[in-house]
Amino acid sequence: MKIRVDADRCQGHQRCFALAPDLFEVDDYGTSSPAGTGTIAPGQENLARRVMANCPEYAIEIVEQ
Ligand code: F3S
Repeated sequence: MKIRVDADRCQGHQRCFALAPDLFEVDDYGTSSPAGTGTIAPGQENLARRVMANCPEYAIEIVEQ
């Protein structure tokens, strides 16, 4: 599983980074992107789903590989 962030939707609320700082990076403008390759490590699946549900802009997507 991987995390994706739609940069066009992201408005910099940073809830994702607050909830899961290991999964996201935030640039100088507050826009989020997946940390590293975006791969969700085993055991982090529920956290990733919670983060996705908490983005008010629906900018986060989880994709199966
Ligand atoms: Fe952006 Fe949503 Fe995170 S708006 S900074 S992806 S909580």
